[in-house]
Amino acid sequence: MDGAVRHPRNDAVRGSPFGVGRLIQMTARQQREDMLALLELTGVTKEFGAIRALSDVSFSVRPGEVVGLMGDNGAGKSTLVKIISGIYQPTAGALRFAGDHAQIHSPAEARRLGIETVYQDLALADNLTAAENIFLGRELKRQVGPFRFLRHADMQARAEELFDELKSETRAGDYVRQMSGGQRQAVAIARTRLSDAKLILMDEPTAAISVRQVAEVLNLIHRLKDAGIAVILISHRMPDVFAVCERVIVMRRGTKVADKPIAASSPEEVTALITGAKEAA
Ligand SMILES: Nc1ncnc2c1ncn2[C@@H]1O[C@H](COP(=O)(O)OP(=O)(O)OP(=O)(O)O)[C@@H](O)[C@H]1O
Ligand SMILES: [Mg+2]
Repeated sequence: MDGAVRHPRNDAVRGSPFGVGRLIQMTARQQREDMLALLELTGVTKEFGAIRALSDVSFSVRPGEVVGLMGDNGAGKSTLVKIISGIYQPTAGALRFAGDHAQIHSPAEARRLGIETVYQDLALADNLTAAENIFLGRELKRQVGPFRFLRHADMQARAEELFDELKSETRAGDYVRQMSGGQRQAVAIARTRLSDAKLILMDEPTAAISVRQVAEVLNLIHRLKDAGIAVILISHRMPDVFAVCERVIVMRRGTKVADKPIAASSPEEVTALITGAKEAA
């Protein structure tokens, strides 16, 4: 310990269970983690009138990390995702993204930062093809004199490439209306690959699809991870989280009750944390 520890000004700190040396060590470690973190939430609270949906939630996600976010209905998972994706503003607390203080005021701003979201209801247009959906709102155009033409062939080709990269069987020219839930997920995920996403948020992507399609979506998540993209996966399905996630965060009634490596937990423990049979871990 150095002289600073014995300095009277540090009495208050010395009186804490840590001591200054420990505190400095912790701060240094925190700084290293901050530098490594892609996304960092600190003390995020969200109130809707009298309802407190989130209480003082802090966690971070490293680049390329796949994190499972679990919790019972109403635990605050979607609210958390909506704060990260710019739909809601936190009542209190702060977000950092890629090392910078981030105020994410809108989904467009989140997208500019490199945060894409795949919602359960997906918001795809049934009457358009997979390729048209992928490019919806960001169509490739060619300017000829005063006219702008859509570059259909280029969009189709790029969409095919994206499905190839994702090793998905989904065909770029197929209409979304004839697609299964899993193929729709593939379209929504391919859409996130158009931009240079660093973090993809997925709210229950496997809730309403068949067993075979679940396998396809989990494969897509593996492909994203291989490409260095971080994923936050909200799911009620324990096998999915244990199959693809490195870490699990458990929410209960708006509070984070666990945040640990998958390898250090078990489905039984996570279930107990979700229901409250186990307080925290
Ligand atoms: N816009 C809103 N206005 C008022 N209350 C809200 C709003 N959105 C969410 N809540 C409340 O916040 C709490 C958390 O909801 P949230 O949707 O985040 O839960 P969830 O964990 O995603 O649940 P589920 O598993 O059912 O999707 C709930 O009590 C919910 O009723
Ligand atoms: Mg939800």
